[in-house]
Amino acid sequence: MELSTRRLAHIYSEGTPKERRALYDVSIDVPPGSFYAIIGHTGSGKSTLIQHLNGLLKPTSGSVKIGGTTIQPDEKGKRLKEIRKQVGMVFQYPEHQLFEETIEKDICFGPRNFGISEKEAKRRAKESLEKVGLGEEYLQRSPFELSGGQMRRVAIAGVLAMKPDVLILDEPTAGLDPSGRHDMMDLFLSLQQEQNITIILVTHSMEDAARYADHIIVMSGGTVYMEGIPTEIFGQEDKLQAVGLDIPESTRFLKSLQERFGTSVETGYTEDAVVDIIERLMKAGNVQ
Ligand SMILES: Nc1ncnc2c1ncn2[C@@H]1O[C@H](COP(=O)(O)OP(=O)(O)OP(=O)(O)O)[C@@H](O)[C@H]1O
Ligand SMILES: [Mg+2]
Repeated sequence: MELSTRRLAHIYSEGTPKERRALYDVSIDVPPGSFYAIIGHTGSGKSTLIQHLNGLLKPTSGSVKIGGTTIQPDEKGKRLKEIRKQVGMVFQYPEHQLFEETIEKDICFGPRNFGISEKEAKRRAKESLEKVGLGEEYLQRSPFELSGGQMRRVAIAGVLAMKPDVLILDEPTAGLDPSGRHDMMDLFLSLQQEQNITIILVTHSMEDAARYADHIIVMSGGTVYMEGIPTEIFGQEDKLQAVGLDIPESTRFLKSLQERFGTSVETGYTEDAVVDIIERLMKAGNVQ
């Protein structure tokens, strides 16, 4: 399913003393099956933008197109429920939203709410638990006996049980240790590559954006500042620094290798590219 926005603007508490323009002139296109990362300094409008992509917020002006449905400022809301089924949203610290006594009941909650039969909801609970890497032996356990990373997987399984075409994740790896972060990111990659789910990831990790995304949107001050493939984005260090962002450590390291040895970097800006270039330098006898 394709998502797009045209000249999207959002003002919180319009017409009150607390009025705040959070987004303006945002026009983006997210093709089906892609892996998008949205990066940007705190307060740049990332969360406000993604909440328009599943109908949680309505535009103040402009429009949002979600599949065949166009949402404009006068949208009455009856079609929004259907959209929320197709575009799943995982908020930051989703484990805080777990509340049922068993994992099965928790995962079934969303589908049941959308009128899916108990039998089908249970079938989906088992299936989505498997997708997030937990076996069916977890179904009857309490979500509160799990580790933080496992709880987060259960919360994501609850969203997957709705069978969304698009999964939007707002800083899903915040607070996880490095190996938990890696596993979580690999999970999103497998959902995109094996289940063909479009992934839209809001992240403060430049490493994750460089490594996993096929397209990056950089937000600044409520609008799109840059967009492109990771090598294009992270090739412009000065421009990123101007809006308070950094390049990934691996990119910095590659650049210094390049300066030191005069090697060209054409493989990208990820950790794998660092390994490749060191291998080449070793073979060439530059590094012992
Ligand atoms: N519910 C709200 N009411 C009023 N203003 C808000 C609300 N939510 C966000 N804002 C304001 O809108 C702007 C954009 O906020 P948003 O949360 O979209 O940024 P963000 O890029 O997600 O930031 P962060 O990286 O800190 O999560 C900020 O100036 C913020 O203060
Ligand atoms: Mg945010």
